[in-house]
Amino acid sequence: MFWKKLGIPYLKPIPFVGNLKDTVLQKTNIGLFLKKVYDENQDKPYVGIFCFDQPCLVMVDLELMKNILIKDSHNFIDRAITADEKVDPFMGKCIPLLKGQRWRHVRTKLEPSFSAGKTKKMFEQVEACATQLTRMLEVTTADGSSVLVRDATMRYTMDVIASCVLGIDGNSLENPDSEYKKYIAGVMDFSISKGLASLTMFMCPALQSFFKLRFVDEDTTEFLRRLVWTTVEYRQKHSTERNDFLDRLNELMNQEKMDASNGTKTKSISESGPILSTETQRKYPVLPFLDRRCERDYEIPDPHGSGTIILPAGTAVYISNFGIQNNPKYFPNPENFDPERFSEDNKRNRSNMLHMPFGDGPRKCLGKRFGLMQVKTGLVHILSKYEVAPCKDTPIPLILDRRAFSLSPKEKIPMTFIRHI
Ligand code: HEM
Repeated sequence: MFWKKLGIPYLKPIPFVGNLKDTVLQKTNIGLFLKKVYDENQDKPYVGIFCFDQPCLVMVDLELMKNILIKDSHNFIDRAITADEKVDPFMGKCIPLLKGQRWRHVRTKLEPSFSAGKTKKMFEQVEACATQLTRMLEVTTADGSSVLVRDATMRYTMDVIASCVLGIDGNSLENPDSEYKKYIAGVMDFSISKGLASLTMFMCPALQSFFKLRFVDEDTTEFLRRLVWTTVEYRQKHSTERNDFLDRLNELMNQEKMDASNGTKTKSISESGPILSTETQRKYPVLPFLDRRCERDYEIPDPHGSGTIILPAGTAVYISNFGIQNNPKYFPNPENFDPERFSEDNKRNRSNMLHMPFGDGPRKCLGKRFGLMQVKTGLVHILSKYEVAPCKDTPIPLILDRRAFSLSPKEKIPMTFIRHI
């Protein structure tokens, strides 16, 4: 047995699924499963698990996590998640799933598009979407109806992506039946097969290829491909600019063309959010775990504190940011929503490893600045006009979707919006 031979404590697996029985049966999801493993093994620096037949390591010790994400990140540059490009071309070509040199090349090219200056230039477009959001709220609440907040914020996010990333008007706030909303909502909706596709992509990519499981279906891939290329062509023809991510794509394409014609190849080229959103992301990190793959054999301290052991190359490593951020040792009464945890005084003496909703190290979220700007702008627009409170139909406590790999609520979340006088 792999972990036994290495002398690493591990969870006893069962044939075929390893330790993933409840995850495969969709009684739990990857994030909740990894949190449980983390919570139940607080007395160890790490614990071995089996994802189907793959041995993987769940980290508990903060210092070791820091080494993996930051200090020794050169040996953990790839994520464990993998998509077979032939089966699922959209996911396979997506930057979060790219590996090694290919990832480095794309990340370096994209990084300047997410600078503070470039993000600021997109503020007007984000604000226009936030204004549409409050307009939609006004119409919905006119007769005293409650608001389905997940639906409203999802439509706002979709319109921001449409405007700033795809360079179009998504129109999903004004027209909930728009074609764009239909496709994007489909991507975010976790059916049984999509739940299995994401589980295998994260935890046993060979099975994803074998069963040809797709996360993004062919129609959606084609719709998005057509949308982007039609807009790029239009802008090239009419020399239009919008200061968005698509402009940057255009610039990069022109640059590549120039490099190709010169016969040269160019060398690869915050503030923290308001404490309200920071505390929300502590309780519910959208991505509840971080994953990395060990590139070369890696020395880690022996679990019993006597020497070192070698973690073999290729081992997947998981970090439960959801577990850490809800660990009473670090955040007393973690179930309480208390934005004061992120006051300047309270933050000062706390390790960065204790709050990682955007990950850390060279593979941390590329869109952190933009994402925070979008969340803050939406919140400011809503809270300057409304007091938001639970109503009799609000599900308390929140039940999480057991099929999704991201943390998303299972049910609709109706809330009361009371207009400030
Ligand atoms: C509040 C919103 C967001 C949250 C909570 C979030 C969270 C995350 C997390 C946890 C990761 C993995 C980091 C790691 O492995 O260390 C990630 C990766 C990434 N995010 Fe975000 N994200 C958000 C918004 C965005 C936006 C708006 C964009 C782009 C417009 C974006 C682009 C990316 C990309 C490209 C990666 C992969 C980076 C790489 O592999 O090099 N994110 N995000």
